[in-house]
Amino acid sequence: MCGIFGIVTDKEQQLGPVLIAAGQRLSYRGYDSVGCATLLDDGTTDLRKDVGKVNDVAERLRLAEMTGRRGIVQLRWATFGGPSPVNAQPHLDSDGDLVGAHNGNVVNNAELRQQFIAEGMTVRSINDGESCVHAVERYVDQGYDMVEAIRRAYHDLEGDYAFVIGRVGEDRLYALKKGSGLVVGLVEGATCVSSDLPSILPLTRRILRVQDGEIVILWADRVELRRVEDGAPIEREMEIATESMEAAEKGGYPHFMLKEIHEQPQVVAELVHLMEAAPHVSQMIERMATARHLYLVGCGTSYHACLLGSVYLARLAGRAASPVLAPQFIPQYGPAVGPEDVGIFVSQSGETKDVLNAIAVARQQGMHILSLVNVLGSTLMHESERYLPLACGYEISVPATKTFTNQIVAFLFLALRMGGHSTERMAQLPDLLQDTLVATEPQVAALEADLAHQDDLYCLGYGLTYPIALEGALKLKEVTYTHCEGMLSTEFKHGPLSAVHDGYPVIFVTGPEDVPLLVSGINETTCRGGRAIAIGEEDERLRTNVHDLIVLPQAGPLFNPVLATLPLQLLSYRLSLLRGYDPDFPRNLSKTLTVD
Ligand code: M6R
Repeated sequence: MCGIFGIVTDKEQQLGPVLIAAGQRLSYRGYDSVGCATLLDDGTTDLRKDVGKVNDVAERLRLAEMTGRRGIVQLRWATFGGPSPVNAQPHLDSDGDLVGAHNGNVVNNAELRQQFIAEGMTVRSINDGESCVHAVERYVDQGYDMVEAIRRAYHDLEGDYAFVIGRVGEDRLYALKKGSGLVVGLVEGATCVSSDLPSILPLTRRILRVQDGEIVILWADRVELRRVEDGAPIEREMEIATESMEAAEKGGYPHFMLKEIHEQPQVVAELVHLMEAAPHVSQMIERMATARHLYLVGCGTSYHACLLGSVYLARLAGRAASPVLAPQFIPQYGPAVGPEDVGIFVSQSGETKDVLNAIAVARQQGMHILSLVNVLGSTLMHESERYLPLACGYEISVPATKTFTNQIVAFLFLALRMGGHSTERMAQLPDLLQDTLVATEPQVAALEADLAHQDDLYCLGYGLTYPIALEGALKLKEVTYTHCEGMLSTEFKHGPLSAVHDGYPVIFVTGPEDVPLLVSGINETTCRGGRAIAIGEEDERLRTNVHDLIVLPQAGPLFNPVLATLPLQLLSYRLSLLRGYDPDFPRNLSKTLTVD
C-alpha cells in the first residue's frame, strides 16, 4: 500500500530531512520505491525517485539536500506498473508545471493513459499516480483554476485513491480524498497532509481528518476544505489527536492481525476493482484455457487458497486443476509436466523457498509459470510469465488473513470469467464481508471463554468449505499453540471420531448446499458427547442439531467460504489473546520462509 506526505512551509528551506523522516514513518506499510519532489520559489521543481528502501534511496539520490517551500514524498507499493524509477512517484505533468503523487488505485488507468497520449500529453510511466497528475493537467490546460481542475479530474479518475498535487509559481498544495486515507496536520509555520497519521504525529497533534469527496488546499498558515461535488467550502473544527505513535501505526487496533482482519472489506474492494480493469486477467485466462493440465501450487495458507481455487475452477469453468503443496509438486508431478502444462504459483511473500524450488523444476520442464502474489518485486513475480497482484498492501502479522481472502477472491473471479459468467456480483463482497465482521465478532466472543482452555479441537468442512476448515485449523494452531486439525467432514468417522468425549469441540464449517450432509456428521459427534459448533447461514436444520451456531450473512454457496473465513480468524485471534500469546508474532514462526 502506498503512502503520501506533503508539506507547505512559510519560507524556502532544506526540506529533504523532513521528507525523509516522513517517508521513514510511512514505511511500516511496506513499499518498493521512494520519491521526493520539492517546489522552489524560482518556479522550478526538484524530483528525485528510485526503487529501494527510504534510507538507501535517500543516500543514493542525496534527498537530504533537497530544498523548497513545498515538498511531497511518496512510498510506492507497485500495482500498476512494476517497481522502476520511472514508475516511482511523484510524477510531473507534460511540461513540468504540476507535480503530484497518489495513494490507492486508479482502476481505469489504462484507458486514461491512452486518452492522455491521444490528447498530446507526455506520459512517461504506466503508473496510475501519473494519471492523477495528467487528469488535472487536462483541465488546467483548458484554463480552469486548480480547484476546478481537480473537481473535474475527480470524475475522470475511477477507483479508490487520495492524491496530493502542487503547481509551480504558487504557494500552496492541494489534496483530494476518494476512498483512501487523508489527514491534515497544522504545524508552527507549516501545514502538512498525509495518507497516514503516524507520519504527522511527530510534527503536530493538531489535525483535521479529510472525508471522501473533499479537496483540501494547504497554505503555510491555514487550510481550506472544499466539497468536490460543487466546490463549496466546508467548515470543520480541528481536532487534537490522542493516538500514540504505535496505536496509529496499527490504525488504533491493538494488533496488526486484528487490523488486517478488519481491512478485508477494503482490500477485497480494491482487488475486485483491479481485476475488473486489469488486462492481466484475460491474459492469464487465455493461458489457463490452453493448458493440457493446470496445477495450483502453494504452501500453508496459500495452499489452502489453491484447494478452494480448484473447486471454484471445476464448478464454474469446468476446468480440472490439481492443487498441490509446493514441495510435493516436485516428486509427484515434476517428472510428468511439460511445455503444454501451466502452473499457478500462489504466495503472499513471493519468496517462499518451497515455492521457488517447485518453480525451478517446473521451469526446467518447460512448464508455463503464472502467479498470484502479494509482494510485487518479489522473486516469484520476476519468475512468472504473468502474475496477478493480490493488492493487499503489506501484511505484517505472521498469520495470513487478508492475503488468504484476496487469494480466494482472485480464484473466484478467474473461475467466473473463465466459465463465461458475470463478475458483477463480486462488487457485493466488500459489504458482505463488513456485515460478517460486525455480525460474527460478538458471536465469537460469546464462545471464546468455553474454548480458551481446550487443547484439542477439530475443524471440519466439505466441498467449498473444506479448504476453509483447513485454513481455520491452521490459523487456530498457529496463534493458540493448540492441536487443531482440519479435515474433510466425511473423513472424521474414518478414525478421528474415536477422540470425541464429553465436551470435545468440533467446528463444522458449512455451505448452504451441504447442510444435510454436515448434519449427519454433527450428530455422529454430538451423540458421543462432543460439542458441535457450526459456522454457516441461518438454517433451522443446523440450529436444532448444534450447540452453537455462528451465523453468516445469506450470500449463497460461492461467497459462503469467503465469509466463513472471517469468524475463524477472529476466533483464532481472540483465543490467542486469552491464552496470553502475541498473535502477530507466534513463537517459532517467520512471515517469510526462505529456507528448505
Ligand atoms: O508467503 P507465502 O504465502 O508463500 O507463505 C506460505 C506460508 O508460509 C504461509 O501461508 C503460512 O502458512 C501463514 N503464515 C499461515 O498463516
